[in-house]
Amino acid sequence: MTLTLAIHSSKGGTGKTSIAINLAVAFASAGKDTCLIDMDLRGPSLCSMFEPKVHFWINDFLSGRCNIKDTLKDIGKDMNTKGHLCLSFANPEIAEIRNLASKDRSWQAGALKTLMNGKKELIRSDMDIIIFDTSPGVEYESINAVAASDMVIIVHNDTNACYSCTEQLIKGIYNPLDKKCAIIDNMKHGNCLNNIERSRYGVPILATIPCMCEVATRSNNEILIHTEPEHLFSKSIITIKEEIERLY
Ligand SMILES: Nc1ncnc2c1ncn2[C@@H]1O[C@H](COP(=O)(O)OP(=O)(O)O)[C@@H](O)[C@H]1O
Ligand SMILES: [Mg+2]
Repeated sequence: MTLTLAIHSSKGGTGKTSIAINLAVAFASAGKDTCLIDMDLRGPSLCSMFEPKVHFWINDFLSGRCNIKDTLKDIGKDMNTKGHLCLSFANPEIAEIRNLASKDRSWQAGALKTLMNGKKELIRSDMDIIIFDTSPGVEYESINAVAASDMVIIVHNDTNACYSCTEQLIKGIYNPLDKKCAIIDNMKHGNCLNNIERSRYGVPILATIPCMCEVATRSNNEILIHTEPEHLFSKSIITIKEEIERLY
């Protein structure tokens, strides 16, 4: 059975993309055929990590210009993973980002249908895990990714603003959409590992990851779970993967 995850947050810069790519590598390394889709259409970042030669972006798929499989690049061989590791990139051109921001509700409703059809296509091709890396907040494309997922992983950082907005997302969006959800407490300050919370707002906390300068200062395209599997960040990703499998 295919599991579809949306990595979401109320605020930007909480560590969604870092967690999404490392988690995708963790699943693929464990032999799962994995697909990571950059649904952060307003702030694409996967393309800057991989600088791929892209024929079709996920934007082209959502606009009906290609099939979802035309957007995929399999980097499993490069990353030495047992399973396929297929990436779908969002177009970073400013003109395309502005174009998307101008789309209205009815276009977005069509894009949700297209995304659901793309998910079905990936399920038919026996993908085990689909991960949507999303934009923060409640833009249409983020909510579309949440709606198309089985489980929402909320990446939280250690700020009061993040706490109050997360509660609103859970009560106002994930619960009404009947989504399973879980929190990752990322970039926690102080002696956080001595005082780990297990749940918040009725939602399980999968892992608590300290704020570590050496994570922030790594080069843009370094995937820690690949280069340093013993690093605390990498071990936290494995815990998250196992917790997701246990909960699902
Ligand atoms: N646990 C952490 N400790 C320190 N820096 C982190 C941690 N997790 C992520 N970062 C850094 O925070 C920045 C934002 O992360 P990113 O994954 O791009 O967030 P988002 O996708 O939510 O915008 C990046 O520079 C990343 O390296
Ligand atoms: Mg991001």
